[in-house]
Amino acid sequence: MRIVVRIGGSVVANPINTELMGKYAEIIRTVKQQGNEVAVVVGGGALAREFIGFARSLGLDMAAQDEIAISCSRLFAQLFLKKLGDAACSKVAITLDDAAQGLSEGKVVVMGGLKPGITTDTVAALVAERVDAELLVKGSDQDGVYDKDPRKYPDAVKIDHLSIDDLAKIFGRSEHKAGIHQIIDPEAIKVLKRKPLKIVVVNGFKPENMLAAIKGEKVGTVIS
Ligand code: UTP
Repeated sequence: MRIVVRIGGSVVANPINTELMGKYAEIIRTVKQQGNEVAVVVGGGALAREFIGFARSLGLDMAAQDEIAISCSRLFAQLFLKKLGDAACSKVAITLDDAAQGLSEGKVVVMGGLKPGITTDTVAALVAERVDAELLVKGSDQDGVYDKDPRKYPDAVKIDHLSIDDLAKIFGRSEHKAGIHQIIDPEAIKVLKRKPLKIVVVNGFKPENMLAAIKGEKVGTVIS
């Protein structure tokens, strides 16, 4: 099975958690050994937001802020890629062509950001679309998708299963903004609407959730 794994910067990079990164590297190796093809997309987390702040203070425009944040996510991607060793491509993929090529060579692909105006959620969706992935798993900082933002509303209820259209309805915001933090960003939802695939959002602080989602066990929120 072709799988895209999206690891939130808010999970492995807020602050950088090398122990968790190491566990993910083990899991990704196992998933690959089981005969799957895997592309991993890593986010830039607090470091990216910090650098967006620096760029903004310097009066740089939104595209420049995004470019700086992309570099941060690529740095985390490189760290992860090195930890994967021989299982992964020799370099972080910076285009969708790189990603497709890496998978066709039987290697784990690792990516950070791709281009301004999106987040790594959209990168994951674009990679999934490009390589015809069957499954996209997102390790997020929440247990799944809720009917409203659980960080603001203590009475928010977790949803076990929903459609991509329902997901779009839950999130009011529909435009990109540098540093946006939403469980699946609005641009990604647009891409995912074009190419139906199974998406599972799990709590990324428990890497075993990623394995469970890949095995098809009931975990997190399934969007299909
Ligand atoms: P990330 O996608 O790196 O955030 O986007 P993250 O840390 O993983 O976020 P969580 O954990 O899902 O919340 C951070 C910022 O980097 C820029 C955008 O400004 C984005 O808000 N970015 C990232 C791009 O412009 N293009 C990309 O392809 C990726």
